[in-house]
Amino acid sequence: MNISIINGPNLNLLGKREPNIYGSVTFDEYLNALKKEFSNIKFDYFQSNIEGEIIDQIQKVGFSSDSILLNAAAYTHTSVAIGDTIKAIDTPVIEIHISNTFSREDFRHKSYITPGAKGLIIGFGIDSYRLGVLSIIK
Ligand code: DQA
Repeated sequence: MNISIINGPNLNLLGKREPNIYGSVTFDEYLNALKKEFSNIKFDYFQSNIEGEIIDQIQKVGFSSDSILLNAAAYTHTSVAIGDTIKAIDTPVIEIHISNTFSREDFRHKSYITPGAKGLIIGFGIDSYRLGVLSIIK
């Protein structure tokens, strides 16, 4: 099984970015632990701060990968284009958020990803990704 993880803007700063909200683990550390725990799964990982690059990556893996875990970060709340892309591909997308966006500012309550997503996992810290993997295995 192949799972593609795609992270949006500022998630390259995990570990040092607002650790009270996003935790103190870097994504590389976390991904290594995930790969060890789920050694029978092939993970590919992509992060970009640029909307068009995220769209290109979703299109690239969206007809071959078994599942996509997508944390579009701030683009979640603004990007009609990323929302359109996940509706255009074959691979199911699970929307991931580290923080509980509904307990934060109003502008984080709107998602352009959710209508095209298979499911939504939010608010479990960085383990939202792990719960996404478990949901795929099930
Ligand atoms: C986030 C929540 C977004 O509102 C925010 O812009 C992010 C991260 C999360 O994982 O909690 O960058 O997607």
